[in-house]
Amino acid sequence: MSEQNNSVADAALAALKALQKEIQETVLDTRESVDEYRIRFLSRKQGQVTALLKRIPEVAAEHRKQFGQEINAAKSLVESRIEQASSSFSGDATSGPELDFTLPGREVAEGSLHPITHALRLITKVFESYGFAVAEGPEAEDDWHNFSALNFPPDHPARDMQDTFFIEPPESDHGGILLRTHTSGVQIRVMENQKPPIRVIAPGRVYRNEAISYKSYCLFHQVEGLYVDEGVTMADLKQIIHAFARTLFGEDVKMRFRPSFFPFTEPSAEVDIWWKDDALPDGGRWMEIMGCGMVDPNVLEGVGIDSEKYTGYAFGMGIERIAMLRYGIDDIRILYENDIRFLEQFS
Ligand code: DAH
Repeated sequence: MSEQNNSVADAALAALKALQKEIQETVLDTRESVDEYRIRFLSRKQGQVTALLKRIPEVAAEHRKQFGQEINAAKSLVESRIEQASSSFSGDATSGPELDFTLPGREVAEGSLHPITHALRLITKVFESYGFAVAEGPEAEDDWHNFSALNFPPDHPARDMQDTFFIEPPESDHGGILLRTHTSGVQIRVMENQKPPIRVIAPGRVYRNEAISYKSYCLFHQVEGLYVDEGVTMADLKQIIHAFARTLFGEDVKMRFRPSFFPFTEPSAEVDIWWKDDALPDGGRWMEIMGCGMVDPNVLEGVGIDSEKYTGYAFGMGIERIAMLRYGIDDIRILYENDIRFLEQFS
């Protein structure tokens, strides 16, 4: 064995020792660090263990076996550390079979607005364009705002348990707490808090204890309207309702005001539109779309508004009825079934 051979072997051994320390101590805490680790030690071209393996022939014959074994041990250690580190990452999103980036993407199902939401937004937009602000009130309401302040006499049938869902019975404080039967109570809340001129609409959900059928349901939606100022007349009311009907049902919409009665308006009317339907003998029929009238002076006085100085009109309409007309829906219950085949037609 020559001197030279020995010094080569020593150098290779020293390199191996240094390598073993590094192999043992390198931190493998990310996928990237494992990949770098593999390349640094095992890659064919630049791997440091690979390089030492290539140097085996340089080592003197009597040291060669031991040298070879030590390198192989180092190589096994690298491999087992890689395996161990990799298995601790498995299960996260990038593990598993290789991704095929040429596959088409998954379809993202798009939701749609409920037809009631469509109709509510449309109606709100129309009245906002006339200068109405949007007001809100609670769905759990007291007797005062839902009935008394709206001039309902104490024995009015609408207060009956048959029609009204009570949360606290009528005998309790405030004459009971109930699920509001209409949005008209928001009129009272607005007038309690604002001085005229007042011009608001109040969209929202209402509840009635009614027999469920194709045309009535235990809950539905209304939009209330209220305009109070000096010199407001029935002509203003007719003008705004006519403009609204033209926007919703077309310029040539045929409509009529029919005298009616509500406790909180005097005079009162109901508004019908002529719904064309060739299947009917008359080629159509009158459909009621809202109630309206001039705010009763009693109601104004009840909230401290001088009824000698101010007058106002009010109206209230059912949204379901209007949505059903617009979208050709003939059973109200389908609006509350959440059948996706129905709902996805409105996207
Ligand atoms: N609140 C009435 C109802 O639920 C609708 C209504 C009629 C509202 C006349 C009004 C109105 O503001 O003036 O049937």
